[in-house]
Parts: sequence; C-alpha cells; structure tokens
Amino acid sequence: MAEYKILKTEGRAKRAEFKTVHGTIQTPVFMNVGTVGAIKGAVSTMDLKEIGTQVELSNTYHLHVRTGDKLIKEFGGLHKFMVWDRPILTDSGGFQVFSLAGLRKIKEEGVYFQSHIDGHKIFMGPEESMQIQSNLGSTIAMAFDECPSSVADRGYVQRSVDRTTRWLARCKEEMQRLNSLEDTINKEQLLFGINQGAIYEDIRKNHADAISQMNLDGYAVGGLAVGETHEQMYHILDEVVPHLPQDKPTYLMGVGTPANILEGVERGIDFFDCVYPSRNGRHGHVYTNHGKMNMFNSKYEMDPRPIEEGCQCPACRHYSRAYIRHLLKAKEMLGMRLCVLHNLYFYNHLMEEIRDALDAGNFAEYKKMRLEGFEEGRI
Ligand code: GUN
Ligand code: ZN
Repeated sequence: MAEYKILKTEGRAKRAEFKTVHGTIQTPVFMNVGTVGAIKGAVSTMDLKEIGTQVELSNTYHLHVRTGDKLIKEFGGLHKFMVWDRPILTDSGGFQVFSLAGLRKIKEEGVYFQSHIDGHKIFMGPEESMQIQSNLGSTIAMAFDECPSSVADRGYVQRSVDRTTRWLARCKEEMQRLNSLEDTINKEQLLFGINQGAIYEDIRKNHADAISQMNLDGYAVGGLAVGETHEQMYHILDEVVPHLPQDKPTYLMGVGTPANILEGVERGIDFFDCVYPSRNGRHGHVYTNHGKMNMFNSKYEMDPRPIEEGCQCPACRHYSRAYIRHLLKAKEMLGMRLCVLHNLYFYNHLMEEIRDALDAGNFAEYKKMRLEGFEEGRI
C-alpha cells in the first residue's frame, strides 16, 4: 500500500515522502524522462543512480508501438528490462497520441490513430492504456486523458473534460481488475488521475472536485505548458491545487524550467517531469546557477574550468569546458552525454536543495535567491 506522509509545510509548499513497492520517494521530486525506457543522450540506469535520480518516467504509447508491452511483460516487466529497481511512472498515452500520432479520431470508447513509426492503425482507450501500463508493471500508472488544445473553445473543453472524467472511472475499474489477476507484474500498481480544463478556471475547479471524490493514489494537473503564458499557468495552479486532496501527492505534468519548478513547489506540487534538461543537453545547452550556457561558444575553446565550478556531477568532476566543446563540435556522442548528465544532475540537485530548504523552513528565501541567480541568464 502506498503511503503519503507530509513532513513539513511552508505556505502551500509541501515536503513529503511517498512510500511505494519500489521504494520511498522524497518530494518535491523531478522525474527523469526516459520516453522509450532510456534517457536520451546515452544515459544508463547506472548513471541515473550516480546522479541521484529517484523516479524514471516512460511512455505507454512509445513502448506499445515499439517493442511492445506484451514482450516486455514476458521479459518480466519494465524494471527488469531496463535494469532499474526504483520507482517508474508511466504516462498513459493520451498526451502522446494527441501530439505524435497521425489521423486520430476521438470517440467515447477511446482514440483511433495511426502509429508514428509505420502508420498501422491502433485503438487505445482507458482499458487498453491500463492493460499496457500493467504489462509494463510501472510503479505509478497515469489515467488515460485528453489534453485539449490551449486555444480550444469552451464548449469543446467542457465536453472533453466530461469524457476524461468518464474515462477515469473506467481506468480505476480496469486497474482494480488487473491488480487482482494472478500473473500481474506489479499487483500494487498505483493510479494518478489528471485534471484538465485548458485555461477555463471553473471547468478545472469542477473537474478537480469531481476527480477528488474518486479516492485515487495521486492527482496530476495536465494540459499546462502547452501554449499558455507562465502567468496563466501559475494562476491555474493557484486556483486548482486547493481543490485537490491535500493528503495525496500532486504532479504537474511536463513542467518545466527551474523557475517553473520553484513556482510549482510554492503552489503545492510534489512531482515534476520535463524533457528540457535532456533535450537542452543534447544541443550543448547547459544549466548553471547563473543561467544557461551554450557549450558551442568559441569562448570556451581553451577554458580549463568545468561547466560549473563546484558541481559534483560526473561531467564537472572530470572534464573541462574546452574538451566538452571539442566533443560537441566533433559530434562525438560523449559531448552530448556529458551535457545531459550535468543537466539532469542540476535538476536533481535543485530538488534536493528545495527539500532541504523546506526542511529548514526557509524555502521562500531560497526561492528568491535562486530566481535572482537564474535571472542573469534567463532560465
Ligand atoms: N504530459 C504533459 N501534459 C500532459 C497531459 O495533459 N496529459 C498527459 N497524459 N500527459 C501529459
Ligand atoms: Zn556538472
């Protein structure tokens, strides 16, 4: 049984721990994104342990279309397949179907779409998404939702949210059935519901109230960072988070920059995930306490310093800016890998400092200090 325990609060910010069958997660936490069961940039699960990753995130949709969740189940589940014994959260496929797949058709029963790999026809509804996530055996499964466009009209958003609520009830029922089967990989798989409603405050609050009644293991806020402004996103969090159960973990999906994370923690968020650190690292863009650096810049050609002085990541403990720039210019995979390792360490370490600040009761001060530093390079 999962157990969520709040250790400390500061305003709405929460410092908590979440016990799962795959270990205890200290929150607030940043999940490292490994869409297809691998962190892009040639980062292994051994590396993840070294850089302090607590939770890895993979995608239902991607693993379903390649290599297939049935094969992964036969292998013994995603933990065994990718050699990772800590918690894994799987996203439900809803969001990826909407952003990647071709020719989709949304019906009450689910979504008909074409694979982005070979174009073959696939159907995914709440039951299918739960079955795939059960086959993968992740620690936390996400509900199958629709993420309406941030510019969708009010009528569409209301109909979409109502359908997402009906889908959630089906997800819960199917998850209970799957968890009770003899050959299920993780019989204690947890289910998080997802709040939607685009930028319509009242729709979001009503939806939050409705899903809060369903006694789920955690609650996510979805449909953000999809085109609205940062101020709109913060405002929605101000309005919605108080309508979600306070005794369950909250998750802000797909967010964001270090500044977004500090603002999210202040508003009561426990879980975050984002492709920024790995994607930026692959392009030679690295995070520092004073903003982002482009490692391709010629000013680093002979620079013997690490990316950031004092950083304890595997890249900064050993290598110079000059060497990393050379690797990137030569298109050597190691260049990307070192930048991604640094960035993921930066995010993981930021979360550790946030937890320490909450423990010490000085999060507000810490947040102000960090935001001032980031301002210099606008991250
Ligand atoms: N990832 C980022 N945003 C979302 C969302 O709204 N729904 C799902 N399922 N995943 C997301
Ligand atoms: Zn570093």
